Amino acid sequence: MALLNILHYPDERLHKVAKPVAAVDERIRTLIDDMGETMYAARGIGLAATQVNVHERVVVIDLSEDHTELTAFVNPEILEKDGEIVYEEGCLSVPGIYDKVTRAEHVKVRALGRDGQPFELEAHGLLAICIQHEIDHLNGKVFVEYLSKMKQDRIKTKLKKQERNNL
Ligand code: NI
Repeated sequence: MALLNILHYPDERLHKVAKPVAAVDERIRTLIDDMGETMYAARGIGLAATQVNVHERVVVIDLSEDHTELTAFVNPEILEKDGEIVYEEGCLSVPGIYDKVTRAEHVKVRALGRDGQPFELEAHGLLAICIQHEIDHLNGKVFVEYLSKMKQDRIKTKLKKQERNNL
Protein backbone atom coordinates (compact mmCIF):
# COMPACT_ATOMS: atom_id res chain seq x y z
CA MET A 1 0.00 0.00 0.00
CA ALA A 2 1.02 3.57 -0.52
CA LEU A 3 0.35 6.92 1.02
CA LEU A 4 -1.16 9.33 -1.50
CA ASN A 5 -0.69 13.09 -1.64
CA ILE A 6 -3.79 15.04 -0.53
CA LEU A 7 -4.66 18.18 -2.52
CA HIS A 8 -5.28 21.31 -0.47
CA TYR A 9 -7.91 23.96 -1.10
CA PRO A 10 -7.91 26.22 -3.12
CA ASP A 11 -6.24 23.81 -5.58
CA GLU A 12 -8.26 23.98 -8.81
CA ARG A 13 -8.12 20.19 -9.20
CA LEU A 14 -10.52 19.90 -6.25
CA HIS A 15 -13.18 21.36 -8.55
CA LYS A 16 -12.97 18.64 -11.21
CA VAL A 17 -16.06 16.44 -11.55
CA ALA A 18 -15.13 12.76 -11.14
CA LYS A 19 -16.09 10.18 -13.77
CA PRO A 20 -17.98 6.97 -12.99
CA VAL A 21 -15.87 3.86 -12.43
CA ALA A 22 -16.39 1.39 -15.30
CA ALA A 23 -15.33 -1.72 -13.40
CA VAL A 24 -14.20 -2.44 -9.85
CA ASP A 25 -10.97 -4.14 -10.84
CA GLU A 26 -7.56 -4.58 -9.22
CA ARG A 27 -6.62 -0.97 -10.00
CA ILE A 28 -9.70 0.35 -8.16
CA ARG A 29 -9.16 -2.03 -5.21
CA THR A 30 -5.57 -0.77 -4.90
CA LEU A 31 -6.87 2.81 -5.03
CA ILE A 32 -9.39 2.00 -2.26
CA ASP A 33 -6.68 0.44 -0.08
CA ASP A 34 -4.27 3.33 -0.63
CA MET A 35 -7.04 5.86 0.08
CA GLY A 36 -7.85 4.02 3.33
CA GLU A 37 -4.21 4.07 4.43
CA THR A 38 -3.89 7.75 3.46
CA MET A 39 -7.06 8.66 5.36
CA TYR A 40 -5.94 6.83 8.52
CA ALA A 41 -2.46 8.39 8.39
CA ALA A 42 -4.08 11.84 8.17
CA ARG A 43 -6.56 10.99 10.98
CA GLY A 44 -9.59 11.53 8.76
CA ILE A 45 -12.97 9.78 8.72
CA GLY A 46 -13.65 10.11 5.01
CA LEU A 47 -11.73 10.63 1.78
CA ALA A 48 -12.81 11.07 -1.84
CA ALA A 49 -10.61 10.09 -4.80
CA THR A 50 -10.79 13.71 -6.02
CA GLN A 51 -8.73 14.70 -2.96
CA VAL A 52 -5.85 12.47 -4.07
CA ASN A 53 -6.10 13.78 -7.64
CA VAL A 54 -7.87 10.71 -9.05
CA HIS A 55 -11.01 11.90 -10.78
CA GLU A 56 -13.11 8.76 -10.52
CA ARG A 57 -16.13 8.19 -8.31
CA VAL A 58 -14.61 6.44 -5.29
CA VAL A 59 -15.08 7.33 -1.60
CA VAL A 60 -13.84 5.66 1.58
CA ILE A 61 -15.31 6.24 5.04
CA ASP A 62 -14.50 4.82 8.48
CA LEU A 63 -16.11 6.30 11.58
CA SER A 64 -14.72 3.64 13.93
CA GLU A 65 -12.11 4.51 16.57
CA ASP A 66 -9.93 1.51 15.77
CA HIS A 67 -9.94 1.68 11.93
CA THR A 68 -11.84 -1.59 11.50
CA GLU A 69 -14.84 -0.42 9.51
CA LEU A 70 -13.48 0.86 6.22
CA THR A 71 -16.35 1.17 3.76
CA ALA A 72 -15.76 1.87 0.09
CA PHE A 73 -18.43 3.54 -2.01
CA VAL A 74 -17.84 3.24 -5.75
CA ASN A 75 -20.20 5.29 -7.96
CA PRO A 76 -22.25 6.36 -4.92
CA GLU A 77 -25.73 7.74 -5.53
CA ILE A 78 -28.05 9.35 -3.02
CA LEU A 79 -31.50 7.84 -3.52
CA GLU A 80 -33.32 9.67 -0.72
CA LYS A 81 -32.51 12.42 1.70
CA ASP A 82 -34.50 14.12 4.43
CA GLY A 83 -34.29 15.96 7.70
CA GLU A 84 -31.77 18.59 8.65
CA ILE A 85 -28.62 18.55 10.75
CA VAL A 86 -25.99 21.20 11.47
CA TYR A 87 -22.46 19.98 12.14
CA GLU A 88 -19.06 21.60 12.43
CA GLU A 89 -17.25 20.01 9.48
CA GLY A 90 -13.60 19.75 8.67
CA CYS A 91 -11.78 18.32 5.65
CA LEU A 92 -8.34 16.85 5.00
CA SER A 93 -8.11 19.19 2.00
CA VAL A 94 -8.80 22.23 4.19
CA PRO A 95 -6.45 21.65 7.14
CA GLY A 96 -7.20 23.46 10.38
CA ILE A 97 -10.54 24.90 9.22
CA TYR A 98 -13.83 23.87 10.84
CA ASP A 99 -17.22 25.44 10.30
CA LYS A 100 -20.92 24.68 10.51
CA VAL A 101 -22.70 23.24 7.49
CA THR A 102 -26.37 22.26 7.23
CA ARG A 103 -27.11 18.94 5.50
CA ALA A 104 -29.76 16.23 5.35
CA GLU A 105 -29.87 14.19 8.59
CA HIS A 106 -30.73 10.99 6.74
CA VAL A 107 -29.68 9.65 3.37
CA LYS A 108 -30.25 6.41 1.56
CA VAL A 109 -27.25 5.67 -0.64
CA ARG A 110 -26.55 3.07 -3.30
CA ALA A 111 -23.01 2.19 -4.37
CA LEU A 112 -20.71 -0.64 -5.36
CA GLY A 113 -18.47 -2.06 -2.66
CA ARG A 114 -14.78 -3.00 -2.82
CA ASP A 115 -15.97 -6.40 -4.12
CA GLY A 116 -17.86 -4.73 -6.97
CA GLN A 117 -21.22 -5.77 -5.54
CA PRO A 118 -24.03 -3.21 -5.27
CA PHE A 119 -25.34 -2.33 -1.81
CA GLU A 120 -27.74 0.13 -0.25
CA LEU A 121 -27.25 1.86 3.06
CA GLU A 122 -29.47 3.99 5.28
CA ALA A 123 -27.32 6.53 7.08
CA HIS A 124 -28.16 9.01 9.82
CA GLY A 125 -26.21 11.70 11.65
CA LEU A 126 -22.44 11.78 11.22
CA LEU A 127 -22.39 8.98 8.64
CA ALA A 128 -25.04 10.78 6.56
CA ILE A 129 -23.03 14.02 6.82
CA CYS A 130 -19.83 12.26 5.82
CA ILE A 131 -21.41 10.59 2.77
CA GLN A 132 -22.81 13.91 1.54
CA HIS A 133 -19.47 15.69 2.16
CA GLU A 134 -17.53 13.05 0.20
CA ILE A 135 -20.00 12.91 -2.71
CA ASP A 136 -19.71 16.70 -2.91
CA HIS A 137 -15.95 16.20 -3.44
CA LEU A 138 -16.69 13.90 -6.41
CA ASN A 139 -18.82 16.70 -7.82
CA GLY A 140 -15.98 19.19 -7.39
CA LYS A 141 -17.40 20.86 -4.31
CA VAL A 142 -15.49 21.56 -1.08
CA PHE A 143 -17.45 22.20 2.16
CA VAL A 144 -16.17 25.77 2.50
CA GLU A 145 -18.27 26.63 -0.55
CA TYR A 146 -21.33 26.46 1.73
CA LEU A 147 -19.86 29.34 3.76
CA SER A 148 -20.09 33.07 3.02
CA LYS A 149 -17.88 34.58 0.32
CA MET A 150 -16.09 36.53 3.02
CA LYS A 151 -15.24 33.39 4.98
CA GLN A 152 -14.11 31.61 1.81
CA ASP A 153 -11.73 34.44 0.97
CA ARG A 154 -10.34 34.41 4.50
CA ILE A 155 -9.79 30.63 4.32
CA LYS A 156 -8.08 30.89 0.92
CA THR A 157 -5.68 33.52 2.23
CA LYS A 158 -4.92 31.50 5.36
CA LEU A 159 -4.28 28.26 3.47
CA LYS A 160 -2.11 29.89 0.80
CA LYS A 161 -0.01 31.35 3.60
CA GLN A 162 0.24 27.94 5.33
CA GLU A 163 1.25 26.32 2.04
CA ARG A 164 4.01 28.89 1.51
CA ASN A 165 5.32 28.30 5.05
CA ASN A 166 5.45 24.56 4.39
CA LEU A 167 7.66 24.89 1.32
NI1 NI B 1 -13.41 16.69 2.62
